[in-house]
Amino acid sequence: MKFFIDTANLQDIRETQDLGILDGVTTNPSLMAKEGITGDENVRAHYKAICDSVDDNVSAEVISTDFNEMVLEGESLAKIDDKIVVKIPMIKDGVKAIKHLSNQGIRVNCTLIFTAGQALLAAKAGASYVSPFIGRLDDISTDGVALIQQIVHIYNNYEFTTEVLAASIRHTMHLIQCAEVGADVVTCPAKVIMGLLNHPLTDKGLAQFLADHNKARETAAPVLS
Ligand code: E4P
Repeated sequence: MKFFIDTANLQDIRETQDLGILDGVTTNPSLMAKEGITGDENVRAHYKAICDSVDDNVSAEVISTDFNEMVLEGESLAKIDDKIVVKIPMIKDGVKAIKHLSNQGIRVNCTLIFTAGQALLAAKAGASYVSPFIGRLDDISTDGVALIQQIVHIYNNYEFTTEVLAASIRHTMHLIQCAEVGADVVTCPAKVIMGLLNHPLTDKGLAQFLADHNKARETAAPVLS
């Protein structure tokens, strides 16, 4: 299972990369805006800095919604670095753009997926990744993890190579549930990945081990030479 971080914040990306478990990064226009990154040159430089911070898989989203413009923008983003995966929204022109870009060997992540039918279309068009937004589905009382399970099942039926990238993950249980139903990738904020580290019994157990070790060392008889 791959772990991606869902942010455009370089510090979070580098800290998570430093753990040694990071497989990629997903961004979107909202996340770029949150970091104050605007203007074509700044955007490209920021994507390059992200690419230089990780091993592979940096999703960079197009802003256009017209087929020809999406293709041009996708080709231009792909030239920034071999690690770029072009993110294309699930709209009619987007499906055509996915087919066109993937035929050229450019990896595509189809975003804003909310149904199994959309995921099927994206796979048919040749997307490398498909991003169902599970948190946004849960927000409207619809089972996001059930959608991941359904897409995994459909892709397995037909041996699609498109990877299921569970997105819009809000908490550690989302991540665990996605692992249980066979998502290929999860993308989540740093706090969700770091949240996997925590258990009070781990902290308590470690404190006890260290206390016992120190006590034994203090009371041990000196070793005679
Ligand atoms: C990932 O590709 C998406 O852009 C992201 O996970 C959306 O998450 P949100 O619903 O928390 O904005």
